[in-house]
Amino acid sequence: MSLTLSIRDIKELLQGKDDAWLFQEARRIKESVFGKDVYFRGVVEFSNYCADNCFYCGLRAGNRNQVRYRLTKEEIVEAAEVGYALGLKTIVLQSGNDYFYKKDDIAFIIREILSRIDAVITLSLGERGFDEVKEWREAGAERYLLKVETFNEELYRKYRPGRNLEERIRLLIYMRELGYEVGSGIIVGLPGQTLEDIAEDLYKLSEMELEMIAVGPFIPHPETPLGSERPGDPVLSLRCIAILRILNPWANIPSTSALASFGMDYRARGIEAGANVIMPSITPSRVRLLYKIYPGKNEGCKCVIEEIDFLKKLVEDTGSKVSDSKGYSPRRFYAEGS
Ligand code: 5AD
Ligand code: SF4
Repeated sequence: MSLTLSIRDIKELLQGKDDAWLFQEARRIKESVFGKDVYFRGVVEFSNYCADNCFYCGLRAGNRNQVRYRLTKEEIVEAAEVGYALGLKTIVLQSGNDYFYKKDDIAFIIREILSRIDAVITLSLGERGFDEVKEWREAGAERYLLKVETFNEELYRKYRPGRNLEERIRLLIYMRELGYEVGSGIIVGLPGQTLEDIAEDLYKLSEMELEMIAVGPFIPHPETPLGSERPGDPVLSLRCIAILRILNPWANIPSTSALASFGMDYRARGIEAGANVIMPSITPSRVRLLYKIYPGKNEGCKCVIEEIDFLKKLVEDTGSKVSDSKGYSPRRFYAEGS
């Protein structure tokens, strides 16, 4: 497969060489595939425990100042039902790398949700065992999100202690074989990451032919080793979205909450730059402020209803329409049809 932009083209676009063309072209391509539709995904952040120690993330095990919570199985299922009642057709089950929930617990939750509502389940549970992701696929989960965060081996080793990039990629490939729609992505503006790195990351993500690709700017969290570093550049993140859209016409690409941390305006600009997905948090009010991957997370809205209403309006104000479909990526449809 040949991509329509070279790494060199990407780097120049990241430098802002031709923003007018970039954003217009990304938007044109998005509308040719998705029209004005924007898909909503409700994210249930059901545990903020994490066994890992990523240098950038507030949920890292080493952050002793983070108050921790876990929702019960019933609470998780109920949160999904609330999201569905509010019109959401995809439920994302997300947590830190929390091994408290065993293979069978997650399988039970998936089956229970699917017995109650006609929704698609996406998992975002970190790097788990091959046997686990297989079982969860059989239980009915259809999508899995697992960001590589960076393809730069040195940065990866430094910022994700105890983890290995190759293993993560192997897991992504396996999930594809299992029939998941697979999503990955990167953080933009990690300390030490160059424009060349980001250009290569966008190219490599695109070569993976993913159904979902997410990018968001780095936001320093004070209780982490990178707490006093500079934040990523939100405009650079918008350029990343646009470049990814051009290289991946069929992928579902969210306008992320990390982007919104720089001002709500950026979430709307993400949609204008080629994103077609918005992921409201549908985590219960009681715990939603505790899911503090980075400062500001979930602080915009006090509860689920407020969050969904707010984001619907934001999307409509861009001239887009909130879709009521399940929002599969058309990638497979086209790939099979060709
Ligand atoms: N800034 C931006 N994004 C972050 N993530 C974790 N920490 C940060 C941060 N400080 C993102 C990672 C991860 C997801 C849970 O949140 O991409 O996949
Ligand atoms: Fe855990 Fe994910 Fe945060 Fe890493 S990025 S510390 S794996 S929640």
